[in-house]
Amino acid sequence: MTTPNRKLCVAPMMDWTDRHCRYFLRLISPDAFLFTEMVTPRAILFGDKEKLLGFSTEEHPIAVQLGGSDPSELAQAARICEDFGYDEINLNVGCPSDRVKSGMFGACMMAKPQLVGECIAAMAEAVDIPVTVKCRIGIDDQDSEEDFSRFIEQVAAAGCNVFYVHARKAWLKGLSPKQNRTVPPLDHDRVHRLKKSRPDLEIITNGGIDSVDGARQHLKKTDGIMLGRAAYHNPWILADLQQLCFPEKNIQQNREDVLKKMLPYARDYLLRQPLAQASKEIKNKKGDKHKHRLHSITQHIMGLYAGQSGARAFRRYLSEEATRPNAPVEVLERIYYDILARELPH
Ligand SMILES: Cc1cc2nc3c(=O)[nH]c(=O)nc-3n(C[C@H](O)[C@H](O)[C@H](O)COP(=O)(O)O)c2cc1C
Repeated sequence: MTTPNRKLCVAPMMDWTDRHCRYFLRLISPDAFLFTEMVTPRAILFGDKEKLLGFSTEEHPIAVQLGGSDPSELAQAARICEDFGYDEINLNVGCPSDRVKSGMFGACMMAKPQLVGECIAAMAEAVDIPVTVKCRIGIDDQDSEEDFSRFIEQVAAAGCNVFYVHARKAWLKGLSPKQNRTVPPLDHDRVHRLKKSRPDLEIITNGGIDSVDGARQHLKKTDGIMLGRAAYHNPWILADLQQLCFPEKNIQQNREDVLKKMLPYARDYLLRQPLAQASKEIKNKKGDKHKHRLHSITQHIMGLYAGQSGARAFRRYLSEEATRPNAPVEVLERIYYDILARELPH
């Protein structure tokens, strides 16, 4: 079994870390460990597998995140994911949304370490790639350090030795998923203490990491860092973190280089229209809905110039030009000459 390097990870984020987003982030950081959005085993077993799981080889190393609580379904889905070529299966034990709660998985499973262990054991039996957990430091009133340690002990005993920990508890009643990412306070110290007490486990800390200095501090006390929102809104932070975590690679490129590398990808995507487009559907609005659009890609690159002069013009240009239904790839091609050459410092 090859072990991915988990020093620098980009968090799973529904509707955000789709394959276009991941391809873009990969261009910025060749070594970050990327995660898919959460997928349910049933969707995989009964749905369009290629649509749900397909990815570009450039996206390696990449983990797929599963959200479920039925060991047998998870094991079957994990096997399919392994066949697709994923480098790791990650179980979501941290999402607090109502939809997830009613399916009895996500963060509410922190109250059921034995069940999490059964899910891990079933998946580990089914695949040869690592099976890992992403969790919180607690939920509701089960939020003491003892509760957290007990959870980790039991799940580790079932065979999981890698934990990505969002360093805040989740309130399952009363807070929305969005509030659950900001309201409960961060407690990275608890994650650092976990690493100290269980040096045999690989512990990656997550939550609110948005600077190289912050990342450097966490890396002294854990095995890795996982960034979510900061990596999405200010993706260039991954270039700095790539340098921090993998200095020997010494990647030399600027934002324009990354934009240029997105062009062939975008062109290829627009040329590869879905099959429905070959039919009559192309002529009506329904067909248009399924058409590949430039915006599917460009929505994820809006933050590329965050904090730079030209950032606003860049975002405005993309939201006006690339959102048109038939926007061609030239919209992206022209951006350098139309916007950046004028706005960037010379
Ligand atoms: C839009 C959005 C979608 C998310 N979807 C998922 C998900 O599918 N699975 C998951 O484990 N966490 C999900 N999260 C939580 C993130 O993975 C991460 O744990 C959280 O945002 C804290 O990290 P950050 O402060 O670096 O953003 C999501 C977060 C956001 C902002």
